Amino acid sequence: MTKKLLFLSALCLSAFSGLQAQTRLNLDLTKGVNVSPKLYGLMTEEINHSYDGGLYAELIRNRVFKDNPNQPEGWSVVQDGDSKASIQLIGADPANVPFDQGRNAINAALTTCLKLTVSQASGNRAGIANSGFWGIPVTPSTTYRCSFYIKTGTVNFPRGNRPDAAPPATAVTEDGPGIINISLESTDGKTTYARGTINLEKSTYWKKHELTITTAANIKPTADARFVISSTRTGTYYFNLVSLFPPTYKNRPNGNRIDLMQMMADMKPTFLRFPGGNFLEGPYLGDAFPWKTTLGPLEQRPGHTGSWGYRASDGMGLLEFLEWCEDLKMEPLLAVFAGYSLRGDHIDAGPLLEPYVKDALDEIEYCIGDTKTYWGAKRAADGHPAPFKLTDIEIGNEDWFDRSHSYDGRFKQFQAAIKAKYPQLRCISTIESYKPDKVTSVKPEMVDEHYYQSAWQMEEDAAKYDSYDRATSPKIFVGEWATREGAPTTNLNAALGDAAWMTGMERNSDLVERSCYAPLFVNVNQAGNGQSKAWQWDSDLIGYTALKSYGSPSYYVQKMFGSYLGTKVVPITAENAPLRKPAVKDTAGISHWPANARRPKAERPALFFVCTQDAKNVYLKVVNTDDMAREITISLKGGDVAANGTLVVLKGDKPEDTNTIDEPTKIVPVTSTITGLGRSFKHTFQPYSINVIKLSKRK
Ligand code: AHR
Repeated sequence: MTKKLLFLSALCLSAFSGLQAQTRLNLDLTKGVNVSPKLYGLMTEEINHSYDGGLYAELIRNRVFKDNPNQPEGWSVVQDGDSKASIQLIGADPANVPFDQGRNAINAALTTCLKLTVSQASGNRAGIANSGFWGIPVTPSTTYRCSFYIKTGTVNFPRGNRPDAAPPATAVTEDGPGIINISLESTDGKTTYARGTINLEKSTYWKKHELTITTAANIKPTADARFVISSTRTGTYYFNLVSLFPPTYKNRPNGNRIDLMQMMADMKPTFLRFPGGNFLEGPYLGDAFPWKTTLGPLEQRPGHTGSWGYRASDGMGLLEFLEWCEDLKMEPLLAVFAGYSLRGDHIDAGPLLEPYVKDALDEIEYCIGDTKTYWGAKRAADGHPAPFKLTDIEIGNEDWFDRSHSYDGRFKQFQAAIKAKYPQLRCISTIESYKPDKVTSVKPEMVDEHYYQSAWQMEEDAAKYDSYDRATSPKIFVGEWATREGAPTTNLNAALGDAAWMTGMERNSDLVERSCYAPLFVNVNQAGNGQSKAWQWDSDLIGYTALKSYGSPSYYVQKMFGSYLGTKVVPITAENAPLRKPAVKDTAGISHWPANARRPKAERPALFFVCTQDAKNVYLKVVNTDDMAREITISLKGGDVAANGTLVVLKGDKPEDTNTIDEPTKIVPVTSTITGLGRSFKHTFQPYSINVIKLSKRK
């Protein structure tokens, strides 16, 4: 009996100690492949109001009145006291301008304008108001740059017997010239935050006016504001290209929002993939990113149909993308339109594709050609004589969607022309090597792979690149990826999935040369005040309104991984690495799985880790996706480290925890000093945590 008891307790003890088996990570500092210096970058496109109503600092929505041919979206009429006024879109459809609306275009780009008719004023103001992109941000002691085109009437022209000529409108007393007021004010018009004036001459010719207005030091920041141009006299007034800029990053004219630029700078990105994404392609063949009409003065930019349900102003044009790169010390990674559009049309390889290839060569020349080249000279004329640096060119975007199977030929034609002129450039294929339509007629030097998955899928796939055959695989560019949990920005569970996935990319960065999360930006405004919901894609990295911005937990993962990165991967062998079963939520809500749908495996790792080093430091990253703390013994081979190091931890109480515009810092990394480090040390990693330990090498 006693013997039996002893045996049973021994069994229990061994089972218990088996459960508790110490997890060990053995780091070998003597070996390791190089870390790609371009491993972490940014991906951007016009989605979720990333530029208009986002990074691009312009505050006026629909500044050239082309956003909606049926109504002047973003604009309203102001009628104070007993003043009477109306507004009307003029030339809304540039291809079919009624005779009585003619002769108001500024040029071929600015064909539509807004007419304000003030029929009664008697000292009260009447005017036009713009509500911005879900409000206009007003902050204390801030100087705004305003500009707009205005005129007081239309050049008269004999109407003759034209059948489409409308009868003359009821005459309005034309006493329009004089002072025009400009103000930044509360949406109810009761509080004025900043004001200015211009002196308007009576003229049927367009004139541009520019001025600055400054807010007082004691105002409370708000986005509940509007921009108003008004008159206290009757008359007809025409407006076009109305613009209002707050201070911008590095004070660039036509520049970017300071807060968002700083958030990106903090991520230490090494490149920027642009202009898409779907935004590169456009719904129809004529809607591809029109880089040529995004250059030069704003007066020359008509804007174009976007890919995400709204028009793009193209204030963020090709040069602005390149300067954004320059400001953040990133290398541009240019994607060129390759003859496939989102609704499925394509251009056959061969002579019909040649103009598109030529257009891509021109675009590359604009970026890197010297000033003796046609497009290099144009860049110089636009204010940037020095060429930018390009290494890789992406040919199209997600061309595996092209059911005509034409990408192989299109890629080959683009690559041949680009290589002939720029042998140093590498061309990136947009079809993964494991997909049926992959490029086969030539070997792409790099392939763009996209992954949008749940956290459990990212965690299951974290070791994906460990088994890629280095001898046969092209270099990998993970040009779009994200763990899609949480909306509009991701939650902690997504951040855990991201971090797990990133350990795999970092460990394999001899193969995975570049990667960038997508989408980068989201304007988080819901529908309201006559404006629709601002975003089209859930699970984004950085959220904002007109006034505020915040990082998702995923943003902080990006920042941690980009900030603590060595130049060589340190191989790790793990002992007793724990596994975990799928969480209930991994399958919750899925009552019927489609036949080929992927289901979670019975078990997946609970911990994910990667280590890199440079001459001075070792950077160990450990992700604990589990709901329990894990103690790990860490041993170093081939080097010693100081007893004190730096610990950065991003964690939360539950996977659903997140940051929002109103609670922006619930989940943020905390940096502290960690002690007791050496050739072998123990550390307990908190539940649901992403950790970086920076160890200083002893000489
Ligand atoms: O990132 C959002 C979209 O996802 C991109 O525009 C497209 O390339 C992908 O399908």
